[in-house]
Amino acid sequence: MKILLASSEVHPFSKTGGLADMVAALGKTLARAGHEVRIVTPLYRGIGAKFPKIKRVDWQFNLPLGAKWEQGGLWSLKPEAGLEVLFVEHPAFFDRAGIYLENNLSYADNAERFIFFSKCVVNLARYSPWRPDVVHVHDWQVGLVPALMLQQHRAEGWENPPLSCLTIHNLAYQGIFPPAAFALTNLPGGYFTLTGAEYFGQLNCLKAGIIYAEVITTVSPRYAREITTEAMGCGLDDQLRLRRKSLFGILNGVDYEEWNTTENPFLATAYSATRLAGKRANKAALQKETSLPVKARVPVFATISRLAEQKGVDIQLGALQEMLSANIQFVLLGSGSPVFESGYRELMRRFPQKVAVRFGYDEGLSHRIEAGADFFVMPSQFEPCGLNQMYSLRYGTIPIVRATGGLDDSVIDFTQEAMQANGIKFQEYSVRALAKAMRKALVIYNEPALLRTFRQNAMKKDFSWERTVAEYLIAYKSTGKVG
Ligand code: ADP
Ligand code: GLC
Repeated sequence: MKILLASSEVHPFSKTGGLADMVAALGKTLARAGHEVRIVTPLYRGIGAKFPKIKRVDWQFNLPLGAKWEQGGLWSLKPEAGLEVLFVEHPAFFDRAGIYLENNLSYADNAERFIFFSKCVVNLARYSPWRPDVVHVHDWQVGLVPALMLQQHRAEGWENPPLSCLTIHNLAYQGIFPPAAFALTNLPGGYFTLTGAEYFGQLNCLKAGIIYAEVITTVSPRYAREITTEAMGCGLDDQLRLRRKSLFGILNGVDYEEWNTTENPFLATAYSATRLAGKRANKAALQKETSLPVKARVPVFATISRLAEQKGVDIQLGALQEMLSANIQFVLLGSGSPVFESGYRELMRRFPQKVAVRFGYDEGLSHRIEAGADFFVMPSQFEPCGLNQMYSLRYGTIPIVRATGGLDDSVIDFTQEAMQANGIKFQEYSVRALAKAMRKALVIYNEPALLRTFRQNAMKKDFSWERTVAEYLIAYKSTGKVG
């Protein structure tokens, strides 16, 4: 099959969260399964300099964006056989310090930027000599692609457009813009209705994807169920219920070439389920790197996260205040809301010997934290999939998670299956419930045989991408349109 993936982030070129990891791994694994894959993404600042093998393609976009016309270029990189990454160049839109925002303020022209990008995706799908069978778009930034494809099919002579598939990585981000932004799509008004892209008078890019994509997927089975409920449907549960037959919940995989403890350039000491001594060395190295007292017997709890409400920052700050009276250490790597940052800063001020926080984005440190910590805390309010709990499992770092979305689907609690338990789950979104889960962690930590069993169960758990890709192929084929 020929598959065109479109995403506003792709690792290692651009990343603010798990979307980048997911799309990169999906593309790579589809290609290795014998499919021809192209991933299209914007050419952000710095990509050209960091990847000198990138080449200009003989392709010029000249597309209407409302009343104006916008031009763009195209660049290409071929990371491996069967896989090509295409970068849409438009310096005024994408050569900026941030991807979506700067100084915690979203760019005022995000509608222009991503509607233009969506049009480039459609233009490539229709006119490049390489004709995809599937156009698979990710999140709101490219949510309008299926509608644009449909319109060209219905009214502009595109006879056999490819299958359109939308993956929802996070229903909380919908790309909602003032109604005037609809003009940028150049679609007829019929698309701006209750049963189209209109949402309480505004343009909703993700809603448009939900309505017009032929197949919809989201990144875990439980989240697929959750988003069809009023409580977790972020105002789009009606539409999602209408599309239930075309909605698939597919748990993300882990790219074990990147996320492993045996061949990892970021780690000083390799280790595995049968050679756990190396984990102790990584713990000491982490304590040293973060200026915490190097103490082998003090359990290290850690979190790596966007500091957003979704991630449960408020209950985490509350639970830590309570738990830091015990003999524990806590390491945070995060970036996001300044209010949340100051909460962690305050904890560090109160407990300088126990708390280390690092703000900003640091890939190497994220691996060293996964390797050096004993427990990984992820108390999310909701979590479509979540990748860090799966990375933690492979690193023998026991995840403490709230039982929601992909966290519930990927972690096994003692009460579910005693012999297979690899993490700790709690249900209620509260400081009390999280603190209780952390106390359970201390009990496990103080029983070395039990801790070893948890770690071994965790490290042997396999979330390979091959299984995930097989499920995507089933979803594509469910329409009968591709074989
Ligand atoms: P989300 O996409 O909602 O942020 P995920 O758990 O799916 O959550 O993915 C988060 C990804 O971003 C992981 O790969 C994680 O390691 C990475 N990450 C998050 N914050 C940071 C940070 N400050 N530095 C480095 N990596 C980070
Ligand atoms: C989103 C979700 C996260 C998921 C990631 C990759 O950012 O918040 O739960 O793991 O996408 O699919």
